[in-house]
Amino acid sequence: MINKCLFPVAGYGTRFLPATKSMPKEMLPVVNKPLVQYGVEEAIEAGLKEIGFVTGRGKRAIADHFDVSYELEHQIAGTSKEEYLKSIREVMKNASFSFTRQSEMRGLGDAILNGRRLIGDEPFGVVLSDDLCVAEEGVLAQMVKLYRQFRCSIVAVQEVAKEDIHKFGVIKGKELKDGIYQVEEMVEKPPADKAPSNLAIIGRYILTPDIFEIIENTPPGKNDEVQLTDALLTQAKNGCVMAYRFKGRRFDCGSVEGFVDATNYVYKNIYNVNEA
Ligand code: G1P
Repeated sequence: MINKCLFPVAGYGTRFLPATKSMPKEMLPVVNKPLVQYGVEEAIEAGLKEIGFVTGRGKRAIADHFDVSYELEHQIAGTSKEEYLKSIREVMKNASFSFTRQSEMRGLGDAILNGRRLIGDEPFGVVLSDDLCVAEEGVLAQMVKLYRQFRCSIVAVQEVAKEDIHKFGVIKGKELKDGIYQVEEMVEKPPADKAPSNLAIIGRYILTPDIFEIIENTPPGKNDEVQLTDALLTQAKNGCVMAYRFKGRRFDCGSVEGFVDATNYVYKNIYNVNEA
């Protein structure tokens, strides 16, 4: 019922310079796998097998990663090293990949609007691959289940400490069930004393396609960028948006500290089990 997932990947990754000078931040490896592949695997697990990237200049390595490398295939065919290609082959077998470009960086809302031509008129998932999520059942899969019940846009949320709240979109809502809120208020990166709650949006969304028209009519907000958070608030006021306190852990791989934590976690708990 939901088949498509959008990955906005046009951002610069300035916090990782010089590593990201000529390489997309989404290709930084967490142990042996690029960050973006974790997100794509999560989408596939949720049944979202048509992957769309909103990309930008200097991001060609992402398209190459999800395509066949004939030279490499030829070199290692029939050797024990083929094992190392297993996870990416699996991904390529199970999904299709489309690309469109965002030529100017005008915010997450604008990036999503650029993805419209890849999505059309159907509900879709969004993954911000900076947020690496680990959970028994993938976070997007959890959200797809919820979508079946509510049929409206859903944002994943997590409780965060007061000193960190200014880095996120923050929601306030009526808790309908444990961890499921109907959104009433939503602000992009408020100062701690203006935050409506401690529930921060993390980079997983299910969006209904009316969001595109709403974004078109959303003026630039925080940092003079078109914010998805602002468009979602309009959607919440006109209809319904749910927030879901997901089960699992999230690492902020957009920061060096979060990236190191994710690397340690994956090395200890995932890499050893699956790959060693
Ligand atoms: C974006 C969203 C923000 C959300 C965050 C999650 O911000 O605008 O609402 O809380 O992702 O990672 P960014 O971190 O891209 O500035």
